[in-house]
Amino acid sequence: MSDAPEITPDAVAAAVDAALAAIADAATTAELKTARNAHTAEGSPLARLNAQLRSVPNEKKAEFGKLVGQARGRVNQALAAREEQLAAAETAAKLEAEALDVTAIAPRARVGARHPISLLQEEVADLFVGMGWEIAEGPELEHEWFNFDALNFDVDHPARQMQDTFFVDPVARHLVMRTHTSPVQVRSMLERELPVYILCPGRVYRTDEFDATHLPAFTQFEGLVIDKGITMAHLKGTLDHAAKVLFGPEAKTRFRTNYFPFTEPSAELDLWHPTFAGGARWIEWGGCGMVNPNVLRAAGIDPEVYSGFAFGMGIERTLMFRSDVKDMRDMAEGDVRFSEQFGMVV
Ligand code: PHE
Repeated sequence: MSDAPEITPDAVAAAVDAALAAIADAATTAELKTARNAHTAEGSPLARLNAQLRSVPNEKKAEFGKLVGQARGRVNQALAAREEQLAAAETAAKLEAEALDVTAIAPRARVGARHPISLLQEEVADLFVGMGWEIAEGPELEHEWFNFDALNFDVDHPARQMQDTFFVDPVARHLVMRTHTSPVQVRSMLERELPVYILCPGRVYRTDEFDATHLPAFTQFEGLVIDKGITMAHLKGTLDHAAKVLFGPEAKTRFRTNYFPFTEPSAELDLWHPTFAGGARWIEWGGCGMVNPNVLRAAGIDPEVYSGFAFGMGIERTLMFRSDVKDMRDMAEGDVRFSEQFGMVV
């Protein structure tokens, strides 16, 4: 190499100084790598001085060899020391950055609220259990026989029309989403010993619009009593008591004549309260009546010996009037801000 540097103590010292300065200046392992390349790799002043040893006269070889060897040794040592320093600093910085304070107080988990329909359903159940009644249940996917036939509905009763009832495929299996909790009347009469005093809260389905006063899936509570000597006075007394427990002592009830295939006579139950939104007034609360002898017979009960009453109310409707909820859709949408208004009762 024509431009090969001459090996002199000064040239070696200059190369070493430059290398040590660059090593000391390196602030990161990446910068140190650059310094290593510039000062020890091929083409660096030290590497070139080292290569130059080949052309040094024999008598000077040992002296210059030692000079250059020591210089390279110092630089490599400095590199190793700085490398260790920087790596330690970088690890420390990384640990610091990723530190997790295990003593920190975790943010509180947000507490939800029970749905007012569930709460009211339980309140209604408690009210009847308090009178010694039992809670009964039935399937939501129901056989047409329980939902209609056993309840004395004609085959061509309008409620059986596709417009009202969710029929479930295949149609030949005769399954429907129950349109009311009344099929549980029949199931209870078939399954239980007499007398029967049951309350059945549960979900029912109709092909209704989803609007402020209708939900295609909603909740009812059904009551059924079968015993000897049961009269309409017992029905009136029971519903009056329920109205006062749920709405307050000023609540009043009245019957209006109506028709249901499974009760005879049948009545619409109206409820009056002085503080309903819109003032003291009567609102329609549900249906009721004396169990039709045909229904008793379908369940194998002798109507000459036993009689009974039944009623069915909408829980959403009850909540609507009791808590002045203007739009039923709020009860179906599951927004916790709606539920929270009813308190944190568990
Ligand atoms: N099942 C009726 C309905 O959903 C209500 C009802 C229940 C009427 C019990 C009479 C007796 O409209």
